[in-house]
Amino acid sequence: MPSLRATFPLLLATALAASPALAADAANGERIAKRWCAECHVVAPGQTSAKADAPPFATIAARNGTSVPLDKFLLNPHPKMPDMQLSRGEVADIVAYIATLKK
Ligand code: HEC
Repeated sequence: MPSLRATFPLLLATALAASPALAADAANGERIAKRWCAECHVVAPGQTSAKADAPPFATIAARNGTSVPLDKFLLNPHPKMPDMQLSRGEVADIVAYIATLKK
């Protein structure tokens, strides 16, 4: 029998690649946010510059998202915010990351 230690990383990698519906990954959400959202939003504590009309992610976390649920917003953002063409998996990861910013 192959050892669990050897097969687990492989299983994990396969599962992550295959299924966006799998448990959200906040660390990946943070990476996406820093790459795609930080131009306009303050996405993490300590970030200094961003656009004034885009709310910081900590503010979004504090008010529990948006007028519509956060995942729905991100799949179909309204006009002032560009549509970032995020996949459902990416949205789930970003939502999980924003939840970690809640105080
Ligand atoms: C080019 C600038 C820009 C980028 C890039 C951007 N946003 Fe935004 N975003 C905005 C602006 C501007 C608003 C405010 C929209 C409004 O008030 O109508 C906003 C609003 C939001 C809101 C809150 C909407 C509400 O109703 O409160 C969320 C959530 C959000 N953005 C998430 C993201 C995420 C996640 C990313 C990265 C994947 C991202 N944004 C990238 C400009 C941007």
